[in-house]
Amino acid sequence: MKNVSVVSHPLIDHSLTILRDRDTKTEEFRRHADVISKLILIEATKHLKLMDKKIETPLAPFVGKELQDDVIVVPVLRAGLAMLIALRDFLPAVSVGFIGLERDEKTAIAREYYKKIPQIFTTHIVLVIDPMLATGGSMDDTVAAVKAKGAKRIVAVSIVSAPEGIKHFSKNHPDVPIITAAIDKQLNDKAYIVPGLGDFGDRYFGT
Ligand code: PRP
Ligand code: URA
Repeated sequence: MKNVSVVSHPLIDHSLTILRDRDTKTEEFRRHADVISKLILIEATKHLKLMDKKIETPLAPFVGKELQDDVIVVPVLRAGLAMLIALRDFLPAVSVGFIGLERDEKTAIAREYYKKIPQIFTTHIVLVIDPMLATGGSMDDTVAAVKAKGAKRIVAVSIVSAPEGIKHFSKNHPDVPIITAAIDKQLNDKAYIVPGLGDFGDRYFGT
């Protein structure tokens, strides 16, 4: 699993336990999903290139830095919206593409119901964000869609991943690093991540 980075931070362990707890209510779930998303998105953006920027502080001229790389973020609807909200604090003007995928409950195969992805240049950094990487089918389809639009520099970001999903995804996209907060034990017979946290979208959106 050489292209996978598990982000380690005490605040992630703390918040992830709250997300995993079946008794956690929507309000707390949202709050801690936001904390974890921010921490892993910091990691996912740590290779962004900077350029010099001349400014004046109240006391003196200063050569600081500003971001040089242009970022496009693609949240996988619906659950990926949770991570988009977190990213907005860091990159308020980020371009956003959308893909709507829903797993068939029987086959666990994702069906696309919406797609609107902006033009992508090879220089863009594309962050594909989806809290759950289970079979890896949704992340696989989304990365294939952004590659079809021209993306060359892609990072896949999830909160909880299953080994089966990582294997499937990495086989199809060995060029795309995965940043995640946890690699869990396995999938169950309904392709849910175990121990996991249940259905992220339902718990986050209170449905
Ligand atoms: C969930 C989750 C991922 C996907 C992961 O979405 O948010 O998008 O499953 O599973 P996979 O790796 O096996 O493809 P779901 O289909 O439940 O839709 P939702 O986000 O609208 O709840
Ligand atoms: N989607 C989820 O929300 N949870 C899982 O465990 C698997 C897919």
